[in-house]
Amino acid sequence: MPEPLLQIDGLCKTFHVAKSASGNTRLKALDGISLTVGRGETLGLVGESGCGKSTLARTLMMLETPDEGTVTFEGTNPFGLRGKELLSWRRRVQMVFQDPFASLNARMSAGDIVSEPWATHRSLYPSPRERQARVGELLQMVGLRPSDARKSPQEFSGGQRQRIGIARALALNPDVIILDEPVSALDLSVQAQVLNLLNDIQQELGVSYIFISHDLTVVRHVADRVAVMYLGRIIETGNTEEVFDHPRHPYTAALMSASPKLDVTGATRDRIVLKGELPSPLDPPSGCRFRTRCWKAQDICADAAPEPRVTAADDGALHLAECHFPLETIKGLTPATTTAG
Ligand SMILES: Nc1ncnc2c1ncn2[C@@H]1O[C@H](COP(=O)(O)OP(=O)(O)OP(=O)(O)O)[C@@H](O)[C@H]1O
Ligand code: SF4
Ligand SMILES: [Mg+2]
Repeated sequence: MPEPLLQIDGLCKTFHVAKSASGNTRLKALDGISLTVGRGETLGLVGESGCGKSTLARTLMMLETPDEGTVTFEGTNPFGLRGKELLSWRRRVQMVFQDPFASLNARMSAGDIVSEPWATHRSLYPSPRERQARVGELLQMVGLRPSDARKSPQEFSGGQRQRIGIARALALNPDVIILDEPVSALDLSVQAQVLNLLNDIQQELGVSYIFISHDLTVVRHVADRVAVMYLGRIIETGNTEEVFDHPRHPYTAALMSASPKLDVTGATRDRIVLKGELPSPLDPPSGCRFRTRCWKAQDICADAAPEPRVTAADDGALHLAECHFPLETIKGLTPATTTAG
């Protein structure tokens, strides 16, 4: 396997919040996240609301400082950088936000929005002429016209605004773009256009994406690999098809079963209804965090947190699940090939 572009090891982020019923004030939004992102690949990140997806995104953008763990980007730890080195690193990871209405400044023109990142990265396109020409190129790359640079965000539709957000993210020639629910505010037909655009850009530029979404159908369509989060931890990762067709963690299986549109194999999966609500991250369950909702839970699940275990290897990528008793078969699908502790 080639060296990953981005390697995350044991990343933790705690927020200090108002006291919970049990007197706890420390909310561990990320609790030991380990992940890799390869060059030019799309990693899908899924999980229920509040599980920590955006906190992970914000930490990778260095908008939050982790309490523990490391991030390595082509051998460099960005959290150890200062001054010019830090500035030049910052351009390498950019973000596109969910809401194309709230994320663009209504008082700026589209051209000013796209060129805004160059105010802090002046050396990229130093002259006004270069900047103007590059804004035109970027707008064309996202399917708009160079003359659109003069318009204000209100003059564009939601899909067009999201294209401006993508052009802004591309302005610094990043290696990784984090897309936090990039199409969930858009109509279905517009979603498809924006997803196709993202795919075209990736083919052309070789940029990597971390694609955060609640919509499993969209993730299945766009992601090469997928990571499933639950209460601040990654509980399953692997190649997208492998995870979607052969989920090993009971939580992933329940997520998949709740999305009938995913059943591309023709095998009808029984709907797995999870009992109970997502526990508060202020007072997570002992042992396995999923145990209060898991139909396979046994005594050990309350006593010992499961380590990630390899459940299969597909095309060189490991399929990992953090469970003492990973699933071996889902109705209509083939059994697990290997297990290792
Ligand atoms: N700045 C903050 N201060 C305190 N708590 C925070 C802060 N940011 C996030 N949290 C808490 O951290 C947890 C993870 O939040 P996060 O926004 O990362 O979830 P998410 O997976 O992105 O959810 P969603 O799918 O709804 O966007 C939540 O319990 C949230 O309330
Ligand atoms: S470790 Fe136990 S409680 Fe957790 S997912 Fe696996 S079987 Fe369920
Ligand atoms: Mg979020």
